[in-house]
Amino acid sequence: MAETRYLTDYTPWPFALTATRLAFRLDPAATVVRSELHLTRTAPGALVLDGGAGLVTRALAIDGAAIDPAHVAIAGGRLTIDAAALPDAPFVFAAEVEIAPAANTALEGLYLSGGIYCTQCEAEGFRHITWYPDRPDVMATFRVRVDCDLPVLLSNGNPVASGPGWAEWDDPWPKPAYLFALVAGDLAAVSDRFVTRSGRDVALNVWVRPADLDRAGFALEALKNSMRWDEDVYGREYDLDVFNIVAVDDFNMGAMENKGLNIFNSRLVLASPETATDTDYERIEAVIAHEYFHNWTGNRITCRDWFQLCLKEGLTVFRDQQFTSDMRSAAVKRIEDVVTLRARQFREDAGPLAHPPRPDHYQEINNFYTATVYEKGAEVIGMLRRLVGDDGYRAALDLYFDRHDGQACTIEDWLAVFQDATGRDLGQFKRWYTDAGTPRLRLAEDWDADAGRLTLRFAQSTAPTPGQPDKPPRVIPIAVGLISQNGDEVLPTQVLEMTGAEQEWRFDGLGGRPVVSLLRGFSAPVTVERRIGRADRALLLAHDTDPYARWQAGHDLAMEALVAMAQGGEPDPAFSQALGGLLHDAGADPAFVALVLRLPSEDEVAAEIVARGAVPDPNAIHRAREALGADIAAQHADVLGRIYDRMNVAGPYAPDAAQSGARSLRLAALSLLSRLDGGDRARALWDGAGNMTERLGALAVLVRLGLADAALDDMRAQFAGNRLVMDKWFGVQVTAAPPETAVATARRLAARDDFDWQNPNRFRALVAGLAANPAAFHAADGSGYDFVADWLIRLDPVNPQIAARLSTVFETWTRHDAARRGRARAALSRIAAVAGLSRNTSEMVSRILAAGG
Ligand code: TRP
Ligand code: ZN
Repeated sequence: MAETRYLTDYTPWPFALTATRLAFRLDPAATVVRSELHLTRTAPGALVLDGGAGLVTRALAIDGAAIDPAHVAIAGGRLTIDAAALPDAPFVFAAEVEIAPAANTALEGLYLSGGIYCTQCEAEGFRHITWYPDRPDVMATFRVRVDCDLPVLLSNGNPVASGPGWAEWDDPWPKPAYLFALVAGDLAAVSDRFVTRSGRDVALNVWVRPADLDRAGFALEALKNSMRWDEDVYGREYDLDVFNIVAVDDFNMGAMENKGLNIFNSRLVLASPETATDTDYERIEAVIAHEYFHNWTGNRITCRDWFQLCLKEGLTVFRDQQFTSDMRSAAVKRIEDVVTLRARQFREDAGPLAHPPRPDHYQEINNFYTATVYEKGAEVIGMLRRLVGDDGYRAALDLYFDRHDGQACTIEDWLAVFQDATGRDLGQFKRWYTDAGTPRLRLAEDWDADAGRLTLRFAQSTAPTPGQPDKPPRVIPIAVGLISQNGDEVLPTQVLEMTGAEQEWRFDGLGGRPVVSLLRGFSAPVTVERRIGRADRALLLAHDTDPYARWQAGHDLAMEALVAMAQGGEPDPAFSQALGGLLHDAGADPAFVALVLRLPSEDEVAAEIVARGAVPDPNAIHRAREALGADIAAQHADVLGRIYDRMNVAGPYAPDAAQSGARSLRLAALSLLSRLDGGDRARALWDGAGNMTERLGALAVLVRLGLADAALDDMRAQFAGNRLVMDKWFGVQVTAAPPETAVATARRLAARDDFDWQNPNRFRALVAGLAANPAAFHAADGSGYDFVADWLIRLDPVNPQIAARLSTVFETWTRHDAARRGRARAALSRIAAVAGLSRNTSEMVSRILAAGG
């Protein structure tokens, strides 16, 4: 049983680490790492350093003298040097270890990706490089020497010296080990300069393999936009002479904010119109910004311990969301963010893995890089901003940067700057950080026609989550507006601050019964239960001034239709009818119309059926979604055909909001029309389109229709050498496949030579891709569960982080019927029973299984 760590166990490290010096002699099988830690004792105790099992320790010294082995113990990933062996005066601890980057398949610490040496140290990867106090509250300046005959040698900070086969870097900003980075490879860069507001001239480089240079330009532009935006909006300037970004193919997550040397999964750097979709471009821009923004929210101010992870991640996600809203369309961005929040975070919060944005215990910290910490962490800040206002938010952030620069902080520090800057008591608000679960907000309306008075009665409740049976009420900012029956806004947005379990508000002087536009801008991450007729929803879809609430009205109509159909009902005409107005409105924003046309996902429909107390049938949900699509197509064939033709963007490709909005509407129309045209338009678009967005949209339609063989051969012939495009090739065949064939297809693809399963992107494309096809993954015969379990078992010893992360596809297993539950339990138990299962995966699988009782 792995050890559990608790928030309440925090104690400061009993030494001050003033400077760290490192020297690397790189070699695939035997890299030598020499380190010097300049230490001063601040409290009594032994010197305890962290180190992974892969370290071969060659020498240990204090102030240049070898340490008496009698004073040294190495056990359980720790090196302990007795207090008796340590001087009272400042001293230098030195170590020489050997590590094997080529054998590192876990992609944590120093490893090789396609001949490029690179590192990943967050959260606890540095201990796989050498002995160190591997905790975020120990911050030091770093000086690093790299010896290697590859041409490009990089580390954090500024370059100080170099010669043939070596380079030295100096990072003057104290940082924890998780922000350390080193890269060595045969790389080429697209480069530019950026002059900061106070006149610092910064060299910018995006390093890639020489063959990929023509796809790196967009990332560089995104970086410059991010730097300018952070100066303009947050007053934050960059603080070194260089900023390097490196793209590598083998990377566990999206990207990493190492000081001055961000390392990226190549899928979040490389883009050309022929190989990347509009969504890829938008994500690249957002993640480049995210990692850059970490320079202040994460690096200059970091976390005291890993329980505080959302201090940097929630805030940095919030900032990257603001950036994307400013660069593109705020309305579209908000709706997209709500869609992902519901799909990932609400799902997490409703299942066995529910945890608060600031957890208070964990076994493996890598399992807590979750939608709750990131996306809910960002929502909580959005609520805070709404409660204190834009000026209060700005004042609090200024105080945060001022007061905490150079420190390792907590959520308490964060809330204190808001209290101090605005005078607002945030005692109740803090529950959003400490309590798991999504509150359910119920609204009952009472209309008094004689008095012209509307009364809104709200009730909130949150279901128990693992380890947290009682959920006291939280403060919920509820943004509302009122729309009259003729479509006018009779009350502009007002924020109701709900603090109790039940509370009511009255609105007087109304001429007629208005329709409540509720939770405008998605002002709080809650689920809503209200009684509202179809006509009122259609009115909101037609007239609401708040784009999110307007979209939600359409989404609710679609959801009602799907839930009824999945439970045996006929297609509900209300949604199709309401769509008519929108489809015929030539002035509507295409991106918005596309979002309304995007039906609730199968997983979201299942969650809604569960919320209503029934057992979802994945096949019935799949069929309902198909039938509703066919019904919409049949009702609106003509106008959809015209939209399809009109949304054909002329002129050169640009990944901007206007063009990508048009293409997303075009593809939504294509998908609907394919129910009538037998795939003719999709075939023509596959052949004729010059960009990957439209080609992949067309391909998904062909895969769904079972007509994609020629297109898939074509794609493989054209892109066999492009790993990122081939990831799409693998993924689309299982995500878009009819559920009856998807598992067999996944098995066939997994047997291919080019299923390079040790690469996280490729593994995810196929295995998480299958799980993203719910009717296939939850196949009644258990074949989907078995396929995924077999591959997780195979991956776990090679890359435990990814195996553990992908085990979350099972988190909804208890929602289904007894037969499916039995098969899922068997698959999960098979994983749990593996001898030597990683701490990562065993923590996840045992939490998931616990939900079954
Ligand atoms: N800090 C990174 C980010 O949010 C996340 C990250 C990148 C990460 N690689 C990781 C977290 C590996 C854990 C393990 O931008
Ligand atoms: Zn981050």
